[in-house]
Amino acid sequence: MRLAVNIDHIATIREARKTDEPDPIAAAAIAELAGAQGITVHLRGDRRHIQDRDVEILRRTVSTHLNVEMAATTEMVRIAQTVKPHRVTLVPERKDEVTTEGGLDVVLHSGTIEKTVRSLVDAGIDVSIFVDPDLEQIRQCSKLRAPKIEINTGKYTEAYAREWATGQWQAEVEKIVTAARAARKLGLVVLAGHGLNYRNIDAIAMINDIEELNIGHSIISRAALVGLDAAVREMIALMRNPRK
Ligand code: PXP
Repeated sequence: MRLAVNIDHIATIREARKTDEPDPIAAAAIAELAGAQGITVHLRGDRRHIQDRDVEILRRTVSTHLNVEMAATTEMVRIAQTVKPHRVTLVPERKDEVTTEGGLDVVLHSGTIEKTVRSLVDAGIDVSIFVDPDLEQIRQCSKLRAPKIEINTGKYTEAYAREWATGQWQAEVEKIVTAARAARKLGLVVLAGHGLNYRNIDAIAMINDIEELNIGHSIISRAALVGLDAAVREMIALMRNPRK
């Protein structure tokens, strides 16, 4: 199973000050050197974290594969056709949401999504659709001839946070196992992600039908903490020995 690291929140920290650090381009290189087999960013309509410039530079510097999450809008399709990331993941997007809230409803929006998938595939871009572990949605992804799906693990991770002591979350794992198996049988390549962290990863890491996980928030959060010790020591050393 491969890991693709979502580096959106490196850009969130940068945008908090509207400055040039930390740079997601450097973060992508470090993640790849540490063994990540993909880099994911979400180019939002409101550009709250990742900027167009980030996507353009990452396309040239990422040596594994660049996966850009985006809404199925005309603006985003145009950007994808120009920048040509290795993969686009179609996600739903609501202006006021804190993060992606659920899978794309490919049954309800099948017309728009089919057109978008076609335009992207015709531009030579690999396409994945972020969907809930729901068999009707997965069958529709196959009908729309999307090569890949990313199963939303959000419901499982919420259940795990509530019910880790009782094991009640196992029903959510079963839904993901069943969805992944069905999708593989339909010929879809299966990826998964959302809300995964250092505590809830085990049950998902055991699902053989899933080829790749997209993980962002928990990895960037941990990086901020485990990197803090070195960052403080470096600053104290510079203050004690100023460079002339
Ligand atoms: N997959 C999709 C489609 C997402 O929108 C996100 C969040 O941007 C992720 C995976 C990663 O989720 P998290 O940041 O909770 O690991």
